[in-house]
Amino acid sequence: MAEVVRIENIARYVGQEVTLQGWLYNRTDKGKLQFLQVRDGTGFIQCVVFRKDVPEEVFAAAARLTQESSLVVTGVVRQDPRAPGVPPGYELSVTDLKVVQIADEYPIQPKEHGVDFLLDHRHLWIRSRRQWAVLRVRATVIRAIRDWLDGHGFINMDTPIITPAACEGTTTLFQTDYFGEPAYLSQSGQLYNEANIYAFGRVYCFGPTFRAEKSKTRRHLTEFWMVEPEIAFCDLDGLMEIEEQFVTYIVQTCLRERAQELALLERDTRPLEKVEPPFPRISYDEALDILARIREETEDEELRELLKIEWGDDFGSPHETELTKRFEKPVFVYGYPTRAKAFYMEPWPGRPEVCKSVDLLAPEGYGEIIGGSERISDPDLLVQRLKEWNLPREAFEWYIDLRRYGSVPHSGFGLGVERTVAWICGIDHLREAIPFPRTLKRVYP
Ligand code: 4AD
Ligand code: MG
Repeated sequence: MAEVVRIENIARYVGQEVTLQGWLYNRTDKGKLQFLQVRDGTGFIQCVVFRKDVPEEVFAAAARLTQESSLVVTGVVRQDPRAPGVPPGYELSVTDLKVVQIADEYPIQPKEHGVDFLLDHRHLWIRSRRQWAVLRVRATVIRAIRDWLDGHGFINMDTPIITPAACEGTTTLFQTDYFGEPAYLSQSGQLYNEANIYAFGRVYCFGPTFRAEKSKTRRHLTEFWMVEPEIAFCDLDGLMEIEEQFVTYIVQTCLRERAQELALLERDTRPLEKVEPPFPRISYDEALDILARIREETEDEELRELLKIEWGDDFGSPHETELTKRFEKPVFVYGYPTRAKAFYMEPWPGRPEVCKSVDLLAPEGYGEIIGGSERISDPDLLVQRLKEWNLPREAFEWYIDLRRYGSVPHSGFGLGVERTVAWICGIDHLREAIPFPRTLKRVYP
């Protein structure tokens, strides 16, 4: 048997005989010729079986292969600019082929299926080209996140998943029974990160996050992945500088390393190429003015209704979508109303109704991918906020401690992996940006 290689490296083997291990993705037969589309997890390649070039039993074995049958195929790598694979431009002239298993009739055919059907078959759907491409981009986003943070003085600290209290509001808590006491799945590792910075300076946690989101939207999962950097001695301006460097690195890494996947997804990458610092920064108040102007100018009654907003309200998806259409790059919106955000945010100097928060909204209508803020550093103010938010002080005693022993101005943010992947890939719905999505209506498979 020839050397076993991976399709992603096929360019190195032009003219050589190699062996691939994979599955039959699709096929066309033309009498003496069979064209097998084979995938091996790293790419897709057309394997050509020519009757007169192979023993009769090899030709017969190829003919038996059904969609998704597993096989080991050997052949000579040829360059052909018309070959449709990933990477494009290579073909295999088959010399030998072994069937590993003949697959039963495969439920997902190369035709249109409804999304519920596909989600019910998510364990198989992830093999499809588009899903494969999205999830490869996801892996690169995750690696880029770690590379950038590890390279900029951040240290990874894992924070607990089982927690005694809410971080991001009590309405989306998943409660669990902890030996007879209620406990909650983590909504954010932030509070623990705030402890960690006093030991390590700059930290991040990166893990699954749980929110019992009761609304059914394209932008919400009940289990998603969030990376949360936290920085000691950092104010809101310092935070925005870090965010724009960080997001730029993630996007540019995907453009460089996942060009084939983005092409397969037919993603127009021109808007992504524009992502570089500095990102525009507007205040919440300015954002409201822009929204008011859009409402005045639009002929679209429905949009006008959707964009209604009073000072003090948080933005919904329609507001973010319309705002981001006005900007070519991701845009920072800072200084949200205190009551629209979480309890731990530092007030704006001289304007207690506003807090030192900042969201980063992705362009092309994608909206919020990052939420962050400067944190309260004064213990008395924090105690007052816990009261105002009706949060149980006992559960937060340790968190108040952090303001008692060497308190410093500090800031941090959380970036949602699935929102970032959806934006970079140009897909509509978060459910395709994670291997096995969890939503209001779905915990299977
Ligand atoms: O804005 P959020 O709620 O901020 C926090 O959790 C802070 N504690 C983070 C911090 O400062 N350390 O969430 C941050 C990001 C959002 O911008 C979004 O990208 C993502 O997490 N996110 C979700 N993604 C998918 N499904 C959901 N239900 C999400 N909720 C938030
Ligand atoms: Mg948010």
